[in-house]
Amino acid sequence: MRTDHAAGAGLASAAAPATGLGDPVGMLPTVELAPRQARLLMHRAGGTPVYAYSRAALRQTVDRVRAASIPGAEIYYSLKANPHPGVVTALASLVDGFDVCSPGELETALNSGMPPEKLLFTGPAKSAGEAAAALAVGVAVTVESPRQAALFSETARRLGGGGQAVVRVNTPYPGRTSGAATSPNQFGVSAEDTAEVVRVLRASPLSLSGLQLFWGSQYSDAEVIRAARNAALDRAASLADEFGLSLDFVSVGGGIAMPWCDRDPAVDWEGLRSDGPGPDPTAGGPLGSATVVCEYGRSIVGPAGVLLTSVLDVKTIDSRRYVLVDAGMNHVMIASRLVAGAGRGEPLVRAVDRKDPGALSPAVVTGPLCSQLDVLARDVLLPTVDVGDALMFSGVGAYGPTFSPSAFLSRDEVKEIVF
Ligand SMILES: Cc1ncc(COP(=O)(O)O)c(C=O)c1O
Repeated sequence: MRTDHAAGAGLASAAAPATGLGDPVGMLPTVELAPRQARLLMHRAGGTPVYAYSRAALRQTVDRVRAASIPGAEIYYSLKANPHPGVVTALASLVDGFDVCSPGELETALNSGMPPEKLLFTGPAKSAGEAAAALAVGVAVTVESPRQAALFSETARRLGGGGQAVVRVNTPYPGRTSGAATSPNQFGVSAEDTAEVVRVLRASPLSLSGLQLFWGSQYSDAEVIRAARNAALDRAASLADEFGLSLDFVSVGGGIAMPWCDRDPAVDWEGLRSDGPGPDPTAGGPLGSATVVCEYGRSIVGPAGVLLTSVLDVKTIDSRRYVLVDAGMNHVMIASRLVAGAGRGEPLVRAVDRKDPGALSPAVVTGPLCSQLDVLARDVLLPTVDVGDALMFSGVGAYGPTFSPSAFLSRDEVKEIVF
């Protein structure tokens, strides 16, 4: 049976130990709101449902991923996890660069004040318009195939300028635990195509200045993460050697998970924390003076966001308590049965006001959609709640509104605020 979170005030401390109750999946630092603060945020937003993202929590999560990364590596934030302009602007002064994968994300990143030379435009299949949008503002672009190498070369010639090309190297994704089988993916340049991509880029106005070796998402095992990073560094060094590349930039992925359902494994932050300066991966080797980059999305923004939603109805069917709220899977797709249903457990949800501290009983929290999939939490322990009360989902700052089918049933979009 899942537990209702104890209502707290302010932010949980980054240094606080996992308690098993307030932090059942080791996801600290997470946002805890006192009832009054939650009510003020809902008032400020003009009602519910509303996502509220905490700047203070973003500072804590960035510090935490930095401490868990290769010593000295730059930290890039991937806008795909949460492109809200307020979040991106807050992160512009906390991280070293951004990874964007559309002209819309590029515009948000530029508006945040992050310098163009600290932006990387990625994506497995870019259109001519996207290639031009990226090269025209001088951001580095990833090249994922010989055809993309040709597209970026022609675009750079047409625009009459150069540009920085980063070759994304196809990198199989490791298994979730040490020794488990890898899985293939469609991203990046294959080993067979690498020589051709290098040839096309060398003949172009672009400079081949970097490599990106992204190896997956949602890993919690420190051994697996460390091994994947090291393998990425080794592969980058051997490619630099083989092709005589002089690199400014090597991205070795991020991969750290966002545990937020009660059965998700906790991230081994202690195991990842660097224990000293460590060997400089670029010293004297074929990577020369390249900047090493770790890129993260969910582990930075996930814990920093909550979703506040109002109870619209409460009813009992076959002795089961249903609490119907105004947020649905059209706002928080990751909580729907499509994503959270397959053995992941239940999201962290509690009542904003705990009117009756003694009485907790199971409830199924469902949204307003005419779909059986619109179950946000099943058999979670909640106090008595009435129409008009608010519930708070924690740890939902990543892959929220923009990852949800917001057009389904033509309902209103969810609100978002930063505090
Ligand atoms: C190239 C690249 N960088 C960064 C990310 C962000 O990953 P995550 O949110 O798991 O940290 C992704 C996710 O798909 C990605 O494809």
